[in-house]
Amino acid sequence: MQHRIAVIGGDGIGPEIVREGCRVLDAAGERFGFDLEFTEFEIGADRYLETGVLLTEDDLSDLGKYRAIYFGAIGDDRVRPGILEKGILLALRFHFDQYVNLRPIKLLSGVSTPLAEKGPADIDFVVVRENTEDFYVGIGGRRTKGRGHDELEVLRSLYSVKFGLDIESDAEELAYQIGVVTREGSRRVMEYAFDLAERREKKVSSVDKANVLSDVYGLWRDVFSEVAAAHPSVTTDFSFVDAITMWFVKNPEWFDVVVTPNMFGDIITDLGAMIQGGLGLAPGGNINPRGTSMFEPIHGSAPKYRGQNVANPIATIWAGALLLDSLGEHEAASAVVGAIERSIADGVVTRDMGGSASTSDVGDHIVRLLGGRG
Ligand code: IPM
Ligand code: MN
Repeated sequence: MQHRIAVIGGDGIGPEIVREGCRVLDAAGERFGFDLEFTEFEIGADRYLETGVLLTEDDLSDLGKYRAIYFGAIGDDRVRPGILEKGILLALRFHFDQYVNLRPIKLLSGVSTPLAEKGPADIDFVVVRENTEDFYVGIGGRRTKGRGHDELEVLRSLYSVKFGLDIESDAEELAYQIGVVTREGSRRVMEYAFDLAERREKKVSSVDKANVLSDVYGLWRDVFSEVAAAHPSVTTDFSFVDAITMWFVKNPEWFDVVVTPNMFGDIITDLGAMIQGGLGLAPGGNINPRGTSMFEPIHGSAPKYRGQNVANPIATIWAGALLLDSLGEHEAASAVVGAIERSIADGVVTRDMGGSASTSDVGDHIVRLLGGRG
């Protein structure tokens, strides 16, 4: 069996952590009898600064030939914040319609959590973040008094939707941004969450802010109730996003699968990352179950550590395990997570986890634990 994987190392520490991830996946392939063929794509800040190009049509059509993209990180001090994030990372998520952002919040054995008296049995849930809608749709504008403003017209013609907007204001300067939630977009991510819960502990918690943003999240809540009714074996509850941050800290053991709109999902998964031991340990998958998915650590590119071989590769290696899972290599995926846990037990960890191992030491050790030559 052969799997072809596209690799985007990206910026900062991205290339060095993905390098270790590829070595680990190779070792897993050797042990479980499949071959991996990696193809690297030079996408990121360097190319942008040289050529002005973020993503080309060719990039998109080439990447579209793969079922899985292994992604490092994007972001560079030389580029204004937002350009690379929106022009590459979000553009890929949207282009490939990766509507599920899967983020396991699991405290591995041997890792310490800032939550007193909580352990691996308490912190083990999955956040299913909607990944294509909400306040990430990129509809908004800014205007200064006295100057023309035609975004609304553009928006109406592009989306053929009347948002009922009629912004009259004497403010010197005004900005707005619109969140869009659709029945179809909510339903498909919720279906994914319920399917996942049926294979786990059969509970789905929905996050929203329907008490204030009652249009967008009112629709979200209605669809959640409908999807819940179609899955009677799964227990459900609702939380407002402010409250769920409290419960994540106080009672993480309550959660099994958490389904959330895009922006709240962004916020609560950084909290989740901390309770599972830190950003260096938090993986994510951007999934289109019928298309091209993309797996990445949820942390950024940490430019100041670039090229120093000190970054923690575990989030990326774990994201590699999610990638294997998506390709149906479930045994290999759990072996990779097992090897990560073993390497932590062996004390081969980077500085952020209190150790002194380098990025490649951790990779070497995990490769050896899988039976490869580190
Ligand atoms: C994440 C990141 C991204 C997001 C940024 C970099 C666009 O914070 O993956 O959580 O907001 O989704
Ligand atoms: Mn984030």
